[in-house]
Amino acid sequence: MNVTPLIESAAIANRVKELAAEIAADYADTPLLMVGILTGAAQFMMDLLSALPEAASNRVDYDFIGVASYAGLESTGQVSITLETTVDLHDRHVLVVDGIVDSGLTLQRVLEHVGDQSPLSVKTCVLLDKPSRRQHTIGLDYAGFEIEDAFVVGYGLDADQRGRSLRYIGVLEDSTTDG
Ligand code: IMP
Ligand code: MG
Repeated sequence: MNVTPLIESAAIANRVKELAAEIAADYADTPLLMVGILTGAAQFMMDLLSALPEAASNRVDYDFIGVASYAGLESTGQVSITLETTVDLHDRHVLVVDGIVDSGLTLQRVLEHVGDQSPLSVKTCVLLDKPSRRQHTIGLDYAGFEIEDAFVVGYGLDADQRGRSLRYIGVLEDSTTDG
């Protein structure tokens, strides 16, 4: 695949450290449950957890939720929950974590689903925000980088399941993924 670097790994690591510090401060007296949206959020959420100050780590739990929406590079416009969280969200302070928010449909659907389970609070954290393509208004509580409208891969984000393990985030230069 032909990828032009956009955000290098050191810049990602710095930003993740800042976000982790912000989250630790905001939840200083509050037990937190991070819920990562599979699969794109996995790398980001693990790095966020590793970057939490030692003192915060014993009051932060984490889990994953599965969604399906994209077929290849295009959203199907419908998001379904394919894997429920293992942890009961009732009476928990939940932070929903995703790698990227584009139209906002995925996050909106997950927020609805989480909200239905009567958590004590729900906030959102994304590494990348593509605001130009937003179709659903989402309040982002923590956001790493705002980017232009381009299809990006790396650091957990994929193009048709490829490119996730790149250490940096880059723009996919052509939509064919067989290169
Ligand atoms: P949304 O539902 O349109 O906000 O899209 C969010 C989901 O689409 C993310 O969780 C990603 O899985 C995927 N996605 C959106 N934009 C990109 C991109 O540029 N690269 C890789 N995946 C993307
Ligand atoms: Mg994807």
